[in-house]
Amino acid sequence: MKSVPQSFCNLIWNQKEFNENMKLPIYIYGMPVLRAVAEDIDLAQKEELQTLVSDMFETLTASNGVGLAAPQIGRSIRVVVIDLSVLSEEYPEYKDFRHAYYNAHVLEGGNVMESIEEGCLSLPGISEKVERPTTVHVKYLDDKFQPHDEWVSGYLARVMQHEFDHLEGIMFVDRISTFRRQMNKSKLSSFLKGKARCSYKVKTLK
Ligand code: NI
Repeated sequence: MKSVPQSFCNLIWNQKEFNENMKLPIYIYGMPVLRAVAEDIDLAQKEELQTLVSDMFETLTASNGVGLAAPQIGRSIRVVVIDLSVLSEEYPEYKDFRHAYYNAHVLEGGNVMESIEEGCLSLPGISEKVERPTTVHVKYLDDKFQPHDEWVSGYLARVMQHEFDHLEGIMFVDRISTFRRQMNKSKLSSFLKGKARCSYKVKTLK
């Protein structure tokens, strides 16, 4: 998920100029891996996973995001990284908040809904209000591979729902009205033609 409020992508056509610090390109809308249901990870490969997570954090920071799911870097596995430390001015409770989540699943949402503006590194230049529950029941393994089964609230609940959706092949534009999707149609179809306006390294369908 892109940080909100957003510093919008620079008006640079992809591939020409981007942040060189990025280890991994971000897969853009249209790439089939973004629509696949991701597999649980094999816990026997912890070392490889820790390298992957470290590369994902680097990519997340370089692209100014707050959350990144493995399908967005082309891996159909249940790995998510979330860095809310960049929002600590607005949300002091998230100071130093940088965590990885493995084999994450949303079990259920709470009853209270809220509309909040979201953006996504795989949908550069699009931001829309998305209605989601304010609390969410999730299960996952933490950075140290310890299991958790808990209800989460606050902005973290929002980011988790956005990121864990990626593991189900769901993108936030699936959760907006047909009208709002129509309003973004030209951007969505330009992604399919390999055009994405942003200042980070990307991989597109063409
Ligand atoms: Ni996203």
